[in-house]
Amino acid sequence: MKIIVTGAAGFIGGVTIFKLLDAGHSVYAIDRVIPSNLLRESGAKWLTGDFSGEVALESIKSYKPDAIVHCAGTSLVGPSVTNPEEYYNNNYVKTKRLLDYLIQNKINSRFIFSSSAAAYGNPVMTPVQEVDPKEPISPYGESKLMIDWMLEAYRRAYGLDYVSFRYFNACGADSQKRHGQEPGATHIIARVLECLRDDAEFTLNGTNYPTPDGTCIRDYVHVEDIARAHALALDRAVPAGVYNLGSGTGISNREIIAAAERITGKELKIISGKQRDGDPPLLTASAGKFNSVADQWQQHDLDAMIGHAWAWYVR
Ligand SMILES: NC(=O)c1ccc[n+]([C@@H]2O[C@H](COP(=O)([O-])OP(=O)(O)OC[C@H]3O[C@@H](n4cnc5c(N)ncnc54)[C@H](O)[C@@H]3O)[C@@H](O)[C@H]2O)c1
Repeated sequence: MKIIVTGAAGFIGGVTIFKLLDAGHSVYAIDRVIPSNLLRESGAKWLTGDFSGEVALESIKSYKPDAIVHCAGTSLVGPSVTNPEEYYNNNYVKTKRLLDYLIQNKINSRFIFSSSAAAYGNPVMTPVQEVDPKEPISPYGESKLMIDWMLEAYRRAYGLDYVSFRYFNACGADSQKRHGQEPGATHIIARVLECLRDDAEFTLNGTNYPTPDGTCIRDYVHVEDIARAHALALDRAVPAGVYNLGSGTGISNREIIAAAERITGKELKIISGKQRDGDPPLLTASAGKFNSVADQWQQHDLDAMIGHAWAWYVR
């Protein structure tokens, strides 16, 4: 198949490119930043620029893709509160421009979207299902939910074929060490591993949550499993709609630290930090909806998430 990947230089987009190329697809990669050398030499065709700019839109039209995997976005929760304009514009307005262009030009590609668990906000019940209330607590989560709504409205009105994945916490790295997270990523596994590598202090935010070990529980998904889900969703037999991408299993911050210490053979220097505003004690995905259409999409456990990320950080 011929596939466009936007946000292709980023963490999830980059690993997706390698997986799609490994599977024999042709890939046209778009990102506004210059990719790593390994990505540039991967065999994908590259366009450096804004995915919603005229050049990118015309390139998409002439490429005639079977699918567009739309990973481009701005995705930090905190900065979205202080600078919401950037998030509504880059995530929502520009994605609307892209979708309108597809509809107006009758480009009938399947649209696979990087949505987020942030669309749910602080759910009352976990594991959270796709049909549960969506009450995002940040402009970032709102911008993702707005696109989910638009995708469904465009499907009904204009026949847009889409799959939107609400990723939970993406982690890990390409298992062949070709791509991983940028230095300084804010996610806990990245922070823990960089602190272990650099012999630096790690701040553990909140140790008094009403959970068995007092730390937050989250649902983690290996970036290669996300890439596999993207590849499986190319098949139009996967019904259009929104799907959670998570394991359904909660892992606490202390469990992550223990696994990281075991895998790296190093001891983490921990300092206790304050509970962060808006951090719910427990957030896990109900994974049943995507499992029911794409059996075996998830193949990596916590050890692989940490082991592959560690191999990336110390490569
Ligand atoms: N990483 C996670 O845990 C997670 C969880 C839920 C959802 N998501 C979503 O998945 C997507 C990918 O996440 P990631 O972790 O790879 O992020 P990332 O920041 O590593 O990658 C995003 C990429 O998009 C590019 N980009 C942003 N705006 C662009 C534009 N207008 N034109 C062209 N390129 C643009 C950036 O340059 C960057 O390379 C994002 O949309 C994010 O919101 C990520």
